[in-house]
Amino acid sequence: MRIPAVDLRPALEETRACWQARVGEVFGRMHFILGEEGVAFEAEFAREMGAKHAVGCGNGTAAIELCLRDAGITSAKQEVLTTPLTAPFTGVGIAAAGARPRFADVDPRTLLLDPGDAGNRLTRRTAALVAVHLYGMPCAMERLRALCRDRSLVLIQDAAQAHGATYRGRPLTAWSRYVTYSFYPTKNLGCLGDGGAIATGSRPAAARLRARRDGGRVPGSADMVSRLEGINSRLDELQACFLRAFLPRLAGWNAHRARVAALYREALADCAGVELPQAVEGGVQHLFPVLADGRDRLRAFLRDRGIGSGVHYPVPLHLHPAFRDCGLKRGDLPVAERACRRLVSLPLWSHLPLEQAAEAAEAVRAFYRSGIR
Ligand SMILES: Cc1ncc(COP(=O)(O)O)c(C=O)c1O
Repeated sequence: MRIPAVDLRPALEETRACWQARVGEVFGRMHFILGEEGVAFEAEFAREMGAKHAVGCGNGTAAIELCLRDAGITSAKQEVLTTPLTAPFTGVGIAAAGARPRFADVDPRTLLLDPGDAGNRLTRRTAALVAVHLYGMPCAMERLRALCRDRSLVLIQDAAQAHGATYRGRPLTAWSRYVTYSFYPTKNLGCLGDGGAIATGSRPAAARLRARRDGGRVPGSADMVSRLEGINSRLDELQACFLRAFLPRLAGWNAHRARVAALYREALADCAGVELPQAVEGGVQHLFPVLADGRDRLRAFLRDRGIGSGVHYPVPLHLHPAFRDCGLKRGDLPVAERACRRLVSLPLWSHLPLEQAAEAAEAVRAFYRSGIR
């Protein structure tokens, strides 16, 4: 693609000297799991997210699983409510903990979990709620937190797509004990493999999570005894090298993504055939989704012009066979279902040239002028 949906090469190039030096040091130490790089990254990442503590783990899915396990939500009798408009891994993390994923519809303006619908779908089995800050935009945390307080639910924020986001001027950890991140390579902060982390304001929770990610072994204890129920999900030293090299650039990269998003918003504001989800204050722009009439024909039109795009996401989770026992069928979550038929993500990455973004926006306009749809 001439204008790819994502391109990681410029970010890697910009930081090459830093990550190469760190990788060299790791090879010098020959210590590849739970070593100095990971410890340093956790402290730096916590600071950057405005959190007291961060605990690295193997990926963003395991981060959700670890938080649920830490909160004791591990039984098939316990339901965890979340949005159907997310990566399947939100649901996979819930199921991995042993609980049952359940879904409520999204707000048509933001495409984020609708607190009103979530409230209506709680049952006496609901034990937790996972708020997904999709596309980098924070959910309505005030309302979701109040709902969770009233009903004694554990609240987890899935910030896999929202590195650097805040809500109402406060860090995400001000809104719930657990905030999970993914460092999948295409995220705003990604590594070059799998990686994840949990941010928390609670020292005891951080200590437990450090043990739980390492088979339940307490860090620093001389024996190899599992003292807590745990899993094996650790952030490795090589990934920590890349993350430490990228982290100081995150704010600048997010600022560039915001400039691209502003350009798209302006160029497409009055474009018939597309609707733009509302941005939320404090959000970072992970993707730039638009709701497009004739979505698949638009994507083909862009592809023919060398412009990449993506779909996040084509099928809402309640219609995935793996989540069939959630008890919902087609038509039950109409806002998310309609969005999934129309969503398309335009190119957006840390170094996307603004001229290329302008060209992509102009191609979208040309598609609707052409009358092809
Ligand atoms: C919203 C959301 N939640 C969870 C995940 C899972 O993260 P990972 O791929 O690191 O397991 C992802 C990434 O795919 C995601 O986008």
